[in-house]
Amino acid sequence: MCSIIGYIGSDKAAPVLVQGLKRMEYRGYDSVGIATFSDNQILIKKGVGKVDQVNSTSKLDTLSGNIGIGHTRWATHGGVTSANAHPHSSSSSKIAIVHNGIIDNFTELKKDLQQKGFLFKSETDSEVIANLLQYEFDQTKNVKQSMLQTIGQLVGNYSFVAVFNDGMIAAARFHEPLIVGIGKEGYFVSSDVLGFVGHTDQVIYPDNREFVIINTRGIQMFDFDGNPVRHQITKISKEFADSYKGEYAHYTIKEISEQPGTILKAGHNTKIELDLVANLIKQAKNIFITGSGTSYNAALVAKHIFSKYAKLKIESLISSEIPYSPNFFDNQSILIALSQSGESADVLESVNIAQNDGTKIISIVNMMTSSLANMSSISIGLNCGPEIGVAATKSFTSQLAVLYQLTDKLCGNCLGLDLNEISQTMSKTLLDHSKIIDIAKQLKNVSDIYILGRGIHYPIACEASLKIKELTYIHAEGLPGGELKHGPLALMDSNVYVIIINPYDSTYANTLTSAHEIKARGAKIIGISDKPSDVYDFWVQIPTIGEAFYSLIEIIPIQLLAYYTALEKNADPDYPRNLAKSVTVK
Ligand code: AGP
Repeated sequence: MCSIIGYIGSDKAAPVLVQGLKRMEYRGYDSVGIATFSDNQILIKKGVGKVDQVNSTSKLDTLSGNIGIGHTRWATHGGVTSANAHPHSSSSSKIAIVHNGIIDNFTELKKDLQQKGFLFKSETDSEVIANLLQYEFDQTKNVKQSMLQTIGQLVGNYSFVAVFNDGMIAAARFHEPLIVGIGKEGYFVSSDVLGFVGHTDQVIYPDNREFVIINTRGIQMFDFDGNPVRHQITKISKEFADSYKGEYAHYTIKEISEQPGTILKAGHNTKIELDLVANLIKQAKNIFITGSGTSYNAALVAKHIFSKYAKLKIESLISSEIPYSPNFFDNQSILIALSQSGESADVLESVNIAQNDGTKIISIVNMMTSSLANMSSISIGLNCGPEIGVAATKSFTSQLAVLYQLTDKLCGNCLGLDLNEISQTMSKTLLDHSKIIDIAKQLKNVSDIYILGRGIHYPIACEASLKIKELTYIHAEGLPGGELKHGPLALMDSNVYVIIINPYDSTYANTLTSAHEIKARGAKIIGISDKPSDVYDFWVQIPTIGEAFYSLIEIIPIQLLAYYTALEKNADPDYPRNLAKSVTVK
């Protein structure tokens, strides 16, 4: 949602913070700011826009001092304004904070602090943390005590970093991510290792309900009851070095291009777990699978392949709907939770609900240090490396790769799954982008795109529509082929483009008929198929592969189409408007 960072060390803080924020910008990018401690005062610069924009106008990285905090924002409470951008300072400007999450009881806290004479400059929930810390520090003159007193009054989910005007930094974690980096030249606290990846690979992962106090002499950690805690220092995976764009223009195209390699790593270091998970699934009375957005679309694919090939009944549930739906969780059931980040609030809440009913949680997750991984009995890693582009691409095909491996185990290798072969076939779809670039030019001015698929191709149509919406801002809708005549046919006319997902498999003939019905109403047809047809105005050829595996192949040209259409529309494919990579609020 937002990214937070803090630094204390021998380097100038501002450039370190700006560089870290730039790498974490995927978490929120409507405004940015930093605060440093220099000459016994706290200096703040902030503004609306992305890191580079604000830095070039406001020169964030010129602030002096070796201690500082920073933030990129995805607005929840209060509009996208400079006043609402973080950091927020206390009334006396002696403390400044950056915050990720939501303080549910900020209205009451604010009223109380206002009555005590504290002034507020923003509409945010976050500002109460600065004034509350100030109030408690004024009473106790002690950073640890003021943190404990403040934490004790906050209701909601949060991580925050505070800089005090005696040169100390303090950071707390409650159901939002926080990582500590231990470098040779200083200490870091950050929402994500990407905040300091170029500086150190030595990290500490504080548990939930813990806080850390750092000064130039060292670091102390405590739980929310004030007891000291110790954690091992871990070395982060060298895969985080992949967090650079390299020769690619955008992270999104880099991540699309990585897929032939990333599917091979999916679940690869967890072979034992895959067998174990397959056994647990077989024994479960009920099998549920959940996720949000792209991860939910992967869950829909799982429903199809588990039932078709492993003959297992599995119920797919949208995570954000679980709190409002009757469910059948119990202690003999399994919930498979899919999430790239492992931090989506909707997924964590649904997992909580299932866990309270005794259901075993198996997660399929990219961030193995995430809250979801921590909450699960077993976690299977996607291992696809950092996914920075806000639109999920490689994490989707890695989720499918894990789900296919599980299905193959569940059906006694009935699929004859060969990920190397799929990887080679995938590579062919990435060889030549020219045709897709031509089609993107046509789509530039279109206002409605429908994507049609039958059977397993329907979840892919849903995922394709999500990619088009996010990246191009064009209205897009996935349709199950057979439903066309039950309503959507009324929408077809010469202004509409329809992408037909039509590999040469058992769905082919009926889907081709749908294409003809649409064409007869004047709509333009983009056929994604290994077989040409006159009905297609544009044919995007995909390689032929075993019927079960087309889902892993056919999504790639549509990811590319969404990417190139975004470029045609001058939209930033890495940072779609109004979105954030990891949605840690409800
Ligand atoms: C996908 O392109 C989206 N950015 C979004 O729908 C995403 O898949 C969803 O927020 C779930 O995220 P997660 O996999 O990290 O839980």
